[in-house]
Amino acid sequence: MKVQVSRKAHFNAAHRLYRKDWDDAKNKAVFGKCSNPNFHGHNYDLIVSVTGEIDQETGFVMDMKVLKDIIKKEIEDEFDHKNLNTEVPEFKDLNPTAENIVVVIYNKLRSRIPSHLDIEVTLYETARNFVAYSG
Ligand code: NI
Repeated sequence: MKVQVSRKAHFNAAHRLYRKDWDDAKNKAVFGKCSNPNFHGHNYDLIVSVTGEIDQETGFVMDMKVLKDIIKKEIEDEFDHKNLNTEVPEFKDLNPTAENIVVVIYNKLRSRIPSHLDIEVTLYETARNFVAYSG
C-alpha cells in the first residue's frame, strides 16, 4: 500500500530567458517578456510529493520535518531572492525555463531522498503556468 505525501514550498527568484547565439529580436520573439535583458522576478511555488510504503514502525512514508529541511537547504536557501542566471551555478549554461528549473530541483532533491521513495516535483511559475517532473 503506497501513499503519497506532499510538502509545499516557495521562493522568489529573478531570471532571463535567452540564448547567447540568438540576437535580441529572435530572443524576444521566442521568449517574449521573459527575455527582458534586465531580468524580472517570479514567485515560484513548489510542491514536492513523495510516494512509498508506510513505515510500520513510525506510520510515516517520510518524516515531513526531514523533507521540509531538505527542501529548505537544497532549494530555498540556494534559489530564494537569487538571480537564477547569474547566481545559481546550475543555470550558468542552462536557460532557466520552468521546465529546466523543475528538472534541476528534482535532481537536487533526488540525491537527498532515500531511493526506495518515488518523488515528483511540481513547479508553479505563475498561478496558471506549472510544470511537473518525476524522473
Ligand atoms: Ni519569466
